Amino acid sequence: MTPDRAPTVHELLAFYLEAGVDCALMDEPVNRVSDDSAAPREQPQAAPVRTAPAAMPVARSEAAPAPEVAIQSAREAARTAPSLEVLRAMLEQFDGCALKSTATRLVFADGNPLARIMFVGEAPGREEDIEGLPFVGRSGQLLNRMIAAIGLDRTKAYIANVIPWRPPGNRTPTPQETQICLPFIQRQIELVNPDVLVTLGNPSTQTLLSTREGIMKTRGRWFDYDTGTRKIKAMATFHPAYLLRSPSYKRLAWQDLRAIAKALG
Ligand code: URA
Repeated sequence: MTPDRAPTVHELLAFYLEAGVDCALMDEPVNRVSDDSAAPREQPQAAPVRTAPAAMPVARSEAAPAPEVAIQSAREAARTAPSLEVLRAMLEQFDGCALKSTATRLVFADGNPLARIMFVGEAPGREEDIEGLPFVGRSGQLLNRMIAAIGLDRTKAYIANVIPWRPPGNRTPTPQETQICLPFIQRQIELVNPDVLVTLGNPSTQTLLSTREGIMKTRGRWFDYDTGTRKIKAMATFHPAYLLRSPSYKRLAWQDLRAIAKALG
């Protein structure tokens, strides 16, 4: 059906928002429908390259470094972080992941770094990006109830994500973005050193537990997560966002939580 009038700016913006487009990537709009947009555009002047503090082997340039360079740089940086505070500061300085430039802020972690249990999700969403804390939106409220089901709350649990910056429009992070961020979450797990690690959903499970099996097969099973210095008991369960969409799986998630509570004694 052809609309009988052009949409208003307000309707267009509402349409974009609904489709997940909620941030501008460039200062100037690009008309991708017009033929002219195919013509090469004048490149903006590169801003001066900032230098990283000597202690942090972090690639910093205006153009994102090649993924292999960024991954190597992330590994070298994360490995040397002696504490969570330094790791967070390193991430604030790290320019190897393009997601940083579209996110509002870094979403590092929430909860108690001395907790015996650590939950790891995929990547922050809109609310998390605004607040700078993981799992504060609707799925975060369900995660709070999952944590409460094992007799704990955020003061007795530690929560982070594999990716610490929100992908624009909540798109799935690319494998390269995941590999670039991986050394930082690995070091974060090593520094928190929980007794039980819980991976929430498929992406976090496959990335951290090095499996290609889907969540239907991996959930509820114990894995060994090797930090390099210690093996941590790890269990995969459903992501709370998935449970919001498919509430019938809550029964299985609650089974997983009972097993986790038992492991924590
Ligand atoms: N989903 C995630 O995986 N992490 C968050 O922090 C929020 C939603």
